[in-house]
Amino acid sequence: MIIKGHFPIESFKELDTPFYYYDLDLLRDTLDAVGDAVRRDPEFKVHYAVKANANPTILRTIAHAGFGADCVSGPEIEVALKAGFKPEKIVYAGVGKTDKEINLGLDHDIFCFNVESVPELEVINDLAGAKGKTTRVAIRVNPDVGAHTHANITTGLAENKFGIALTDLDRVVDMARALPNVELIGLHFHIGSQILDMTDFTALCNRVNSIVEHLETRGVEIKDINVGGGLGIDYKHPNHHPIPDFALYFATYRRHLKLRPGQNLHFELGRAIVAQCGSLISRVVFVKEGTKKKFVILDAGMTDLIRPALYQAYHRIENISSDSEEIERYDVVGPVCESSDVFGKAVDLPLTRRGDFIALRSAGAYGEIMASHYNCRQLPGAAFSDTI
Ligand code: LLP
Repeated sequence: MIIKGHFPIESFKELDTPFYYYDLDLLRDTLDAVGDAVRRDPEFKVHYAVKANANPTILRTIAHAGFGADCVSGPEIEVALKAGFKPEKIVYAGVGKTDKEINLGLDHDIFCFNVESVPELEVINDLAGAKGKTTRVAIRVNPDVGAHTHANITTGLAENKFGIALTDLDRVVDMARALPNVELIGLHFHIGSQILDMTDFTALCNRVNSIVEHLETRGVEIKDINVGGGLGIDYKHPNHHPIPDFALYFATYRRHLKLRPGQNLHFELGRAIVAQCGSLISRVVFVKEGTKKKFVILDAGMTDLIRPALYQAYHRIENISSDSEEIERYDVVGPVCESSDVFGKAVDLPLTRRGDFIALRSAGAYGEIMASHYNCRQLPGAAFSDTI
């Protein structure tokens, strides 16, 4: 038997496909689970990584729950502010911040710039000085800690472009402390995404502890430690594990990261918060009999959800219209003129017909936000459980 998610199919019939369907009850339950897991640690500050999904309704729901925001561009800061995130809870990372973007952050007095290079530190100092301001910065350190995840989404190895190398850290810290218009408040780390092995986070904690201890011996006070995001989700079983194990994730940090009195620990979670509440809903355009296999051709393609084409990522595929007992094996593909426009090969589905609704599950993170107009296709729409 194939277990399927619950979807309001009657309402879907009124809508143009493809579109993202967001279960806002699940999003709110997920936010509550995060809140419960950190309630007893007032020094834990959770920032939602806007890059995972910047749909205004999603952002408003998360802002309303009191979370901060982690932004990686000026436009992300703008949409976060518009959705109700407080500037004093916004952190801003990115290797290529332009002057315009830095000025935007300065004008709104955001909480902190996560600085990724020496030239960036100098420019932030100059631009803050020009406004007669002092601004808070954290140095993004490349911890050289690997994560057991896809090569394209690890970020904390020495070979990655992100952050300051450990060997340069003392020099950059001294420089930051000498500059008049920046206040060095802390360190920022991020080792990668879709991490399910908690020992990866333990390895990061150990590295952070030794860096903080080393800086202390040099008289450098670290008020804020930001360990980034990266907690993964269960793509295989979205119905069994709709909410990630936040208790275990935060307990790992509580146990292994040695926080000093007065220190805050910041997190930047994206995927774990929004992935499971979103599904890409599409209609079957054709079922095509190939010579060796059958193809289900959808009206959704890699322009709507690029993760399978870009990272060979798995998304569970469900035919949510068919009640057939008969199971067939199909390759499920999109209409885009690229051979990589494939959502799944040899997928077992109930007998599938033209017009059936297909749900691509766990698509709430890095789905809608990564959509493109390639082939002059329209961007996918969005529908919400509260209003449908
Ligand atoms: N903080 C920093 C500095 C990051 O680079 C990222 C993600 C996050 C936080 C949030 O990570 P999360 O909690 O979502 O794992 N497009 C890829 C994922 C790219 C992640 C980039 N950085 C995907 O679809 O899998």
